[in-house]
Amino acid sequence: MLKQPPWWQSAVVYQIYPWSFQDSNGDGIGDIPGIISRLDYLNDGTPSSLGIDAIWLSPIYPSPMVDFGYDVADYCDVDPRFGTLSDFDCLVKEAARRGIRIIMDLVLNHTSDRHPWFRSARASRTSPERDWYFWADGKGLWRRPSNWNARFGGSSWTWDPASHQYYLHSFLPSQPDLNWGNPALKAKMLEVVQFWIDRGVQGFRLDAINWIGKDIRWVNNPRRYGWRGYTRQQHLHDRDQPLAHQVMRDLRTAVSCYPDVVLIGEASADTPGGPASFYGTSSDELHMVFDFRLLKSPWRADCFRELMTDGDRAVPPDDWPTIVFSNHDQSRHIDRYGSGGDVDRRARAAAVLLFTLRGTPFLYYGEELGMRNGRLRYRDLRDPYTKRFWPFRVGRDPARTPMQWDGSPQAGFTTGLPWLPISQTFPTVNVEQSADDPSSLFHLYQRLIQLRRSTPALLHGTYIPCKCDHDDVVVFLRRDGQGNGSGRHILVAVNFSERPAVCSVSGIDNEGTLLLSTHDRHEQRMPWRTGQLDLRPDEAVVVQMQAEPVQLFSKR
Ligand code: GLC
Ligand code: CA
Repeated sequence: MLKQPPWWQSAVVYQIYPWSFQDSNGDGIGDIPGIISRLDYLNDGTPSSLGIDAIWLSPIYPSPMVDFGYDVADYCDVDPRFGTLSDFDCLVKEAARRGIRIIMDLVLNHTSDRHPWFRSARASRTSPERDWYFWADGKGLWRRPSNWNARFGGSSWTWDPASHQYYLHSFLPSQPDLNWGNPALKAKMLEVVQFWIDRGVQGFRLDAINWIGKDIRWVNNPRRYGWRGYTRQQHLHDRDQPLAHQVMRDLRTAVSCYPDVVLIGEASADTPGGPASFYGTSSDELHMVFDFRLLKSPWRADCFRELMTDGDRAVPPDDWPTIVFSNHDQSRHIDRYGSGGDVDRRARAAAVLLFTLRGTPFLYYGEELGMRNGRLRYRDLRDPYTKRFWPFRVGRDPARTPMQWDGSPQAGFTTGLPWLPISQTFPTVNVEQSADDPSSLFHLYQRLIQLRRSTPALLHGTYIPCKCDHDDVVVFLRRDGQGNGSGRHILVAVNFSERPAVCSVSGIDNEGTLLLSTHDRHEQRMPWRTGQLDLRPDEAVVVQMQAEPVQLFSKR
């Protein structure tokens, strides 16, 4: 018997930013009952819903919300803005009825300064929780313990006048970093993991993992000349320490008796060894780690060709990649990839990549509708990071505007005043419109999800880059080693240019059946013209190959 791959390898994960998905009580803030009321949209078991398998919930914990939930004040409860623990239990149950699993966001590197642990830590130098955080004396009068700078601007050290020491924070001053070198803290956090597993959660998305662990000799980071902001120093001592890997191993051990629980890590793209180092040396750390290289890439064939292949190779052979183009920290990919070109056509081509590359796709709410970044005025902004760098960077608030459900005044998101303005595009870009229009991006996402689910080569097949003689076209194959006969080899081709492209693909001249095109094509056969692939502007196609292109596979 073949070993059944774990559920998360064939899953499509949908990220919900709880503030913005659906408000149920008119306070303008999304909440858990709101999410429950919209579960059928995500998956009602019929082909009319989107068809996702799991929800990653950005933090719903009690929080002062300075970093919108990534500043946790209690790991074992729900913020009253979002509901109660019993609402959460209901969400797990209602989601499970629809075959949807829940993945919690777990912030390990820091808490809120309002967390009782930090309150106690700061209350006295002899408090049992003092050592759960990092404290240090200044180097002489008014000089901080080290030159470390914080991710969201300013120094990583803040003076605590009550206890006369500095505390460390890698993000905002209200997010003090936790000391994972302290065994009591580690034990407490493992209890948190257990708490949510017992409530039916089937995975964790682990926040900012490469910040866990510090060089507690407080050595200065070397300067990087010519760089500004956070990257003006080489972050040698304030992150990327071996302890982070130890913590991941401990977490993996802790969940090992729950075969369905998945651990997914978020590490900076520039962490030494790359984020993939968090799979561990013998698959003993995380099940999946986000790779943000494609997310950060311009929409160019040469970049994608290289990054797709590198990304696939970076993942150890027994481990499993992630595919992600958007999240709550980045400008939406429709705007990034679309810049300078046809926004809608590129979003369609990107969707094909999202669901046909090897790995688990992660969608960010609203991307399936083609939701754009909101155009916000300074006074609309809520996120301290977005405000700090406005208007020089797009920031994060524009990607966090409320979900667009219909064309009614607040887009069906709330009956009150939304916490962030609804994006101006809502009258035409919304769920209701998308569902009615068979040519919408939503329908393409739906078709791709179904195609992926029913095609073993797309779910589990190996990824094989192909050589093609057109600079703007990227071609790859997915090959299913297990199956036999038809459906074993899937060819995907994407034209990154806004001109038609005719190209030949080395090793491939046999027939294929066109399974899907981002364009309105009626033919059944692969778009060949005298042995060449014939693509329209910005077109992406998925083709089922009839016979094994022998030359190609014998190379690997
Ligand atoms: C992660 C989160 C981000 C948050 C930061 C600090 O990068 O994705 O939203 O602000 O960590 O917790
Ligand atoms: Ca609400």
